Amino acid sequence: MMRPVKVAGLGTFVPPRVMTNEDLEKLVETSSDWIVQRTGIKERHIAEKGVGTSDIAEPAARDAMAMAGITADQLGFIVVGTTTPDTIFPSTACLLQAKIGAKHAWGYDLGAACSGFTYALSTAYAMVATGSCDHALAVGADVMSSIIDYTDRTTCILFGDGAGAVVLSVAEPDEPHIIDFCHEIDGAGGPSLCMPAGGSRLPASHETVDQRMHFVKQDGSAVFKFAVRKTEEISRKLLERNNVTGSDLDLFVSHQANRRIIDAAAERLGMEPSKVVINLERFGNTTAGTIPLALGDARADGRLKKGDLVLLTSVGAGFTVGSVLLRWGC
Ligand code: UT7
Repeated sequence: MMRPVKVAGLGTFVPPRVMTNEDLEKLVETSSDWIVQRTGIKERHIAEKGVGTSDIAEPAARDAMAMAGITADQLGFIVVGTTTPDTIFPSTACLLQAKIGAKHAWGYDLGAACSGFTYALSTAYAMVATGSCDHALAVGADVMSSIIDYTDRTTCILFGDGAGAVVLSVAEPDEPHIIDFCHEIDGAGGPSLCMPAGGSRLPASHETVDQRMHFVKQDGSAVFKFAVRKTEEISRKLLERNNVTGSDLDLFVSHQANRRIIDAAAERLGMEPSKVVINLERFGNTTAGTIPLALGDARADGRLKKGDLVLLTSVGAGFTVGSVLLRWGC
């Protein structure tokens, strides 16, 4: 039998250094007006050189555990959704486990790009729901600046660095809990958003470095169209099978890639703008970090409260598509 699972704690972290649109105007041929109009982004946080994803995940994880009122040794499982692991191996989950001292946890990294958090949440949910552990840590974190080409104006304006973590705990039946999730992948979309080199097919070489193949490459308009269509589709599918409409929701928290994607999907789903969280103007696209950062802001400004009915939706490289419906638990 599946046990109810609640979000017991949330933590977020962004590195302190801010890169504004004006800073980017000095690096590439762009303008702050263009960036704001086309994306909604005004600034993003960028890690210092040498800072890895586990470094920004650690404070987020510690805050999530503090809110949940648990200590690291109570965690049974850690999953880190990330596209920018500190190293290909060991996994960032192992590095994080050692940093926080989660001596009874096992875990691994999960590669789902911008769906890293929704997929990590669902994976951790399954571990707790099936009784494998009572407390699990799901992290979405990326140091995107480590794989961004700051000579490519079509991508460098979009991304930032950030991390978020939730503790999931076994719940009493009457406590607000995770209700359902629905995910899809569509590998045919792979070439539209990828980092061509650095894996087994094209290991690092002088050539791959010279050809700038260790950076994010994107067909922006293909990703844009897919994201608008799928954000709506997956959200609708999950809502319908739970007999919920857009107007029943207290909050819609979508992956933060482009304001126009979120606005279009929210409108098609019939959601009032006041219920749609948008904070990409301050953080840009932090890949797996966007949804927890948006949840953190909504909680801080009083828009997200215990018991609220919340829909999380993401679309990312792969393509990966994800949606989670839950009653917020903390
Ligand atoms: O997390 C999932 C991953 N990513 C996304 O979801 C992003 C999806 N895509 C997008 O957000 C948008 O496609 C972009 C913001 C990347 C681009 O916006 P767009 O409205 O699709 O613009 P575009 O690619 O059609 O480019 C329009 C023009 C082009 O010039 P030409 O060919 O019309 O002369 C670009 O070269 O804008 C030019 N352009 C820029 N101009 C100033 C592209 N980037 C910039 C820039 N500054 N940074």
